[in-house]
Amino acid sequence: MKIADGREMKQGRGGLSRTGIIERFREFLPPCKAIVSLGEGETPLVFSPKLSARVGRGCEVYVKNEGLNPTGSFKDRGMTVAVSRAIDRGTRALICASTGNTSASAAAYAARAGILCAVVLPAGKIASGKLVQAFAHGAKIVAIDGNFDDALRIVRELGEGNEFAIVNSINPDRIAGQKTAAFEIVDELGDAPSFHLLPVGNAGNITAYWAGYQEFWRRSKSTRLPAMLGFQAAGAAPIVQNRVVENPETIASAIRIGNPASWKQARAALDESKGDIDTVTDDEILAAQSWLAANEGILVEPASAAPIAGLLKRSNEIRERSVIVCTVTGHGLKDPDSILRSIGDLEPVPAKIDNVRRALGF
Ligand code: F0G
Repeated sequence: MKIADGREMKQGRGGLSRTGIIERFREFLPPCKAIVSLGEGETPLVFSPKLSARVGRGCEVYVKNEGLNPTGSFKDRGMTVAVSRAIDRGTRALICASTGNTSASAAAYAARAGILCAVVLPAGKIASGKLVQAFAHGAKIVAIDGNFDDALRIVRELGEGNEFAIVNSINPDRIAGQKTAAFEIVDELGDAPSFHLLPVGNAGNITAYWAGYQEFWRRSKSTRLPAMLGFQAAGAAPIVQNRVVENPETIASAIRIGNPASWKQARAALDESKGDIDTVTDDEILAAQSWLAANEGILVEPASAAPIAGLLKRSNEIRERSVIVCTVTGHGLKDPDSILRSIGDLEPVPAKIDNVRRALGF
């Protein structure tokens, strides 16, 4: 079966834009013959004037908006590599554990490739948009009475046979694909930032960014390496507390993880980069989410607001004139429930201009 060809990857006749990260960064990635792509990567690095003003002291803050990937999260960068290479090996079914975004991405790339996708999820803890995505893309969904860590344990065991290819970030192809976000940032800024902030759950992404920054630095594409600053939710902060959290709890369901798979690699990234990892509370996360939406026009899911909350919490420690990048990892429309609750009921007014004017207070 032919999965993809050069013509499909061009995504239209308008030139080379959004051909996907494999096409763009092939020399830095493990070899892929069949390319399964949805045009991931090349996400906007948005300068944020109001966030910069809040940090002050001449700092520049940029938001890398990974919610604008094809399935609305950064997972697509790793998934294109993992699924392409699984196809090269003749795989017929993918499997993953997920807090939602990995399953949405795996399901979409499996649909594109024409293979099966099985997902194991913690029951009742997946944001509605993500569940809709996995279902719409035709994944076989199993909800378990347990959390993400239990789901990953089961998936690791199922992956030991040869029926399934695991596409969680324990698969090194996922990390390889995700490091391309750091490449794009260096290309765009002309150098690495001084600080890079991101949310930490299973700890694959912080590992991937650090690998990407190091690789471009070794190739003299940047003159410096950023300090990596990770943020975990206060109720799900195993790396900060240096112990497994048996029952992680947070409104940021994407990072509701008590025993991250890439714990050691994340620790190394934090230590080698002279960075740090800290907690943010659910209230701080929700406040940062609404602030970013209302002031910078960027709606992110709660987990993605963790680095924004973290920046506001730790901004005094950031030296003057720093260039700061925050990765926002997933689109806000995936998880509308917390915001929907605060809208309440909209009482209709008569369909007359005067009533509308009065209701607006103008
Ligand atoms: N932000 C979002 C929106 C996520 O979905 C995740 C992880 C993270 C941050 C944390 O990234 O795990 O590499 O440290 N989501 C995984 C999932 C666990 O199953 O979708 P990480």
